[in-house]
Amino acid sequence: MELKEQIDLNNLPQHIAIIMDGNGRWAKQKGKARVFGHKNGVQSVREVTEAGAELGIKYMTLYAFSTENWNRPKYEVTALMTLLVSTIRKEIATLNKNSIRLKTIGNTEMLPKAAQKELAEAIESTKNNDRMTLILALSYSSKSEIVSAAKKLAQKVKDGQINIEDINEESISNSLHTKDFPDPELMIRTSGETRISNFLLWQLAYAELFFTPVFWPDFRKDHLYEAILNFQNRERRFGLTSEQIDKTGN
Ligand code: FPP
Repeated sequence: MELKEQIDLNNLPQHIAIIMDGNGRWAKQKGKARVFGHKNGVQSVREVTEAGAELGIKYMTLYAFSTENWNRPKYEVTALMTLLVSTIRKEIATLNKNSIRLKTIGNTEMLPKAAQKELAEAIESTKNNDRMTLILALSYSSKSEIVSAAKKLAQKVKDGQINIEDINEESISNSLHTKDFPDPELMIRTSGETRISNFLLWQLAYAELFFTPVFWPDFRKDHLYEAILNFQNRERRFGLTSEQIDKTGN
């Protein structure tokens, strides 16, 4: 049976987060420049977006550019930004055709003006789409997101809008860039690295983590299905025992 047919559509993760890693190594293996890997990574972005929407995944977050990535050689950063702008421009029509809403998380004010403009237009143009939300993490750092949430809440206490006792998991979640999205239940990282690398540290508290040796430019729909099947075959206990889970029927 095909992998896709084995997926239980009643037990899908609502939100899948992906660390797209290994573009550079994929290119190097082929004797090409790193940027060649990023360019080929765009096809994988298309494939997972399409596969996710077809299955009925409601949210997908892709780690496209971390705060640390600004320290890469200037030409690589420029190439990534150019690729981002051209990809978004090319894909807006497809996003709309498939009713996919585009969103971003991260310090996007750090991006070049052209990229900010392209993103703002795409976000505006897709804002009423409701099949799936595609969230690009751009100039994103989870630690800095948590620091700014702490500052926002501290300021509210200082201004007398809330009391210290009002600071809880919910108010912290509501102060993060991801406040409008549910937490991911599944996080996939490609390329064999088994780290979280400053990605959604708070939001991944209970997520299942799936690591695959496949480099991002080789990642195809079947790899996504494999990760979802792996997720469905795990028992999510949220700190409870197996017996408790059996009783509650969760
Ligand atoms: C990680 O591989 C990948 C990135 C830092 C960028 C990902 C970007 C894309 C796939 C293209 C543009 C994306 C969108 C959403 C249009 P790496 O360079 O860290 O690889 P390495 O670990 O092998 O060096």
